[in-house]
Amino acid sequence: MTTIITYYSANGGTEFVAQKVAKELGLKKEHLLEHYQVTGSVLANCDTLIIGCSTWYVNELPPEITPVVDLIKSQPHQLKQIALFGTGNQTDYPYSFVNALGLLYQQLQPLGIDIIGLTSTRGYTFTNSLAVVNNTFVGLPIDEDTQSELTMPRIKTWVAQLKTEFNGAA
Ligand SMILES: Cc1cc2nc3c(=O)[nH]c(=O)nc-3n(C[C@H](O)[C@H](O)[C@H](O)COP(=O)(O)O)c2cc1C
Repeated sequence: MTTIITYYSANGGTEFVAQKVAKELGLKKEHLLEHYQVTGSVLANCDTLIIGCSTWYVNELPPEITPVVDLIKSQPHQLKQIALFGTGNQTDYPYSFVNALGLLYQQLQPLGIDIIGLTSTRGYTFTNSLAVVNNTFVGLPIDEDTQSELTMPRIKTWVAQLKTEFNGAA
């Protein structure tokens, strides 16, 4: 089973999280890609795609992610599973905490691909988030800005969860 992690990071936070998730999963270096490196053949050889996305705009995805989303939409049957993580800041942006995670889910959920790695909202303090669906986050939120001490425990717990949800051997 091949797992690929893809991310874009303007300030390094999302890249840091992507690297830690890759390490916990025991992925090889070539399985950690920035969005611009994801091609049709990468997707064709990938079972599970893990997408990392920061929130910089209240109601918009970062433009860098658009080609990846378009590629997935053009060949949705290539992927067996998707998992999402989002970086954000719940203290400075409590009304749009990790909104991009939710916006990404809105784009991908209708494609019928199994989305794994949903997590509890416990331990976060925010007012509103598009990433909450049915009282559950649609992926893993990481707040490196104000809860960095929880980053590694959250990643470790999430990776252990993903391993139980993978459709096949990890
Ligand atoms: C201009 C600006 C706007 C932001 N808007 C949000 C937001 O609406 N919601 C949120 O959760 N985080 C917001 N953040 C926090 C970033 O998502 C967070 O710092 C993230 O780790 C950045 O990822 P990066 O370091 O990979 O670029 C914002 C940060 C900046 C600088």
